[in-house]
Amino acid sequence: MACFVVTHFLCYLPFHCCMKNLAVTIEALVLPLLLFAQTNRPIVIETKNTAIVLTVANNQRLNQSYLGKKLASADYEQFKGGREVYLAAGMENQFEPAIRMIHADGNPSLDLRYVSHKKTDYINISKTDITLQDPVYSAEVVLHYITYFNEDVIKSWTEVTQQEKGPVTLTQYASSLLHFTADEYWLTQFHGDWAREMNMVEEKLNNGIKSIESKLGTRTNFYQTQVFFVSLNRPSTETDGELIAGTLAWTGNFKYTFEVDQRNGLRVISGINPYASEYTLQPGETFTTPEFVFTYSANGKGQASRNLHRWARKYAVLDGNKPRMTLLNNWEATHTDFTETRLIELFDEGKKLGIDLFLLDDGWFGNKFPRNDDKNGLGDWQEDKKKLPSGIGYLVNEADKKGIKFGIWLEPEMVNPKSELYEKHREWILKLPNREENYGRNQLVLDLVNPQVQDFVFDIVNEMMTKYPGIAFIKWDCNRSMTNAYSSYLKEKQTHLYIEYTKGLYKVMERIRQKYPHLPIMLCSGGGGRTDYGALKYFTEFWPSDNTDAFERIFIQWGYSYFFPSSTISAHVTSMGKQSLKFRTDVAMMGKMGYDIRVNNFTPQELHFSNEAVKTYKRISDVIWFGDLYRLVSPYEENRAVLMYINDNKSKATLFNFHLNSRRKDVFSRVLLQGLDPAKRYRLKEINLFPGTKSVQPDNDKVLSGEYLMNVGLNLSPGRVNPLTSNIYELTEE
Ligand code: DGJ
Repeated sequence: MACFVVTHFLCYLPFHCCMKNLAVTIEALVLPLLLFAQTNRPIVIETKNTAIVLTVANNQRLNQSYLGKKLASADYEQFKGGREVYLAAGMENQFEPAIRMIHADGNPSLDLRYVSHKKTDYINISKTDITLQDPVYSAEVVLHYITYFNEDVIKSWTEVTQQEKGPVTLTQYASSLLHFTADEYWLTQFHGDWAREMNMVEEKLNNGIKSIESKLGTRTNFYQTQVFFVSLNRPSTETDGELIAGTLAWTGNFKYTFEVDQRNGLRVISGINPYASEYTLQPGETFTTPEFVFTYSANGKGQASRNLHRWARKYAVLDGNKPRMTLLNNWEATHTDFTETRLIELFDEGKKLGIDLFLLDDGWFGNKFPRNDDKNGLGDWQEDKKKLPSGIGYLVNEADKKGIKFGIWLEPEMVNPKSELYEKHREWILKLPNREENYGRNQLVLDLVNPQVQDFVFDIVNEMMTKYPGIAFIKWDCNRSMTNAYSSYLKEKQTHLYIEYTKGLYKVMERIRQKYPHLPIMLCSGGGGRTDYGALKYFTEFWPSDNTDAFERIFIQWGYSYFFPSSTISAHVTSMGKQSLKFRTDVAMMGKMGYDIRVNNFTPQELHFSNEAVKTYKRISDVIWFGDLYRLVSPYEENRAVLMYINDNKSKATLFNFHLNSRRKDVFSRVLLQGLDPAKRYRLKEINLFPGTKSVQPDNDKVLSGEYLMNVGLNLSPGRVNPLTSNIYELTEE
């Protein structure tokens, strides 16, 4: 009955099949070289330092025989056996499967056998596609791997197709399954809540299953961020230990399953959370899973982060290699309580600071239901005529006259019941039949599965940009997770909702990006509720947390820094927290700096300091945004945090030193720098000093060798160390 004949010939897939997942890298293409491997040879998926070796067993099952440090080519020939790459449910496997399929005739088993594979090489990128088929049923799974050679990053995902006589049901559909063999496994995860994002915890994995997942639909990272490390044999440090860092590029429900079996083997399964999401696949349809992105490091977490940062800037984040704008946001300064005149005053405040852009936050819209609080107006994207009688266009022009750009806040996926949108289009809202509406922040989620809603959401941006082409930045918010999870558009296919919602969001973002390819957009979700590489190909940065207390921010930004480059981590100087302005500014400078503060309340000294800080940041930000990050002392281990960024040719570095709260006067040891060129000589200069203060750094203004700085180090805490003080140093090659 099989429509797919299981043979060993190697099929040629047309070139365009490979293209759709390479959108970001398209300019890097050269003519592909198609390599047809033989089935009796191992399939090697390689980067500069990593290799995965897959082999085909006599029964045509595909095994992962090796994952680890790259070896000499001849060594790969030694591998045989291993564990099945993409474990299916229903046959002899009794562990957590990567895929479970119920065939058209009700048979709940899938038997995946190797059929063929092909490799396509581009500049720095290589793509391997492996086709597996069921010998009895017309079901096919293609495993895709893309490697980024220099960055040591691998992406994997799958495509599932069926040609049976009727629909089949997928109840599990992972993007990736990786096998590990080690004495011990240590999982590092990041969990949180509103204003408490990215708490890092590490635990030993024991026999059985541990899962990290989200069922939140929207704002999916609210409690668990979809990033992890698995360290092998022992917990890894920044500089030592074998590990993988993994993350699913998906702005929806996700699930990671870590299963340690009776023989102490570990399986890591990553993909969309199949919770309430059985997926029906019609004959001829293909289900494509999101990409699982991972890097392997034999040199600790620091290397893993640098791999991901380099990859993200070049391939994964929109305009990841381009500069960002410094901005003044008005959310913490005014909330929804502002007038046109007040905003224009704020432009002046921004100008005094020297920032590039003013970002108008929530509260500017709604007429029948003016948005004076979070209960009203969401969905009615017209200027509030009372607050802004002259309209957005006037604000854009006024900002322009003052030499700054103008950006605007939107929350396009949501609606308040008190809105004209709600009155007009109840059918566009996710809502359970026969149930009361359940609110989160007084709002409901629009049904982005519905193409009409997709048009509506696209039009919000498109109309805004058409009417006011001077708008130079958007903050895209999403302030609630999904309850009322029922789409009237989907009818009997409700189990497709979570998946189709995210796909709907991507469809809208694709359209926005086709028309406005480089408009900077900040991804925000009631703080850091959405931080993933599925979204970041459409966004230039994200809002990590509504907690802007600089002390807390050190931990939050530290957490994100493991997986995301600093140019994506928005960090604003605000009046939250009791720390000095100097400390708050230094913390913001370690990410993508902005302000959200009443500048008019600054003393002349504070204003002078801040204006100089913006200039300094602009001067050094290319090192912070595009340099390699070295986390030198963790705030999780000591009452301080020390980190540095260094540019590619190792001629410039920026070093951050934060003293945190302490119960007594801490004695801190010297800090050994990393990543410098030992042969180069660097001038050390403390920068961003508050007016009237002098550096107490004994080595300030000295020229020291990279060798010395990395082996003898610096005393970054000389004399009396007060908590909540900080320093920034610049190292410049002489
Ligand atoms: C949540 C965001 O995280 C804040 O920065 C702000 O934009 C508010 N929403 C506005 O409602």
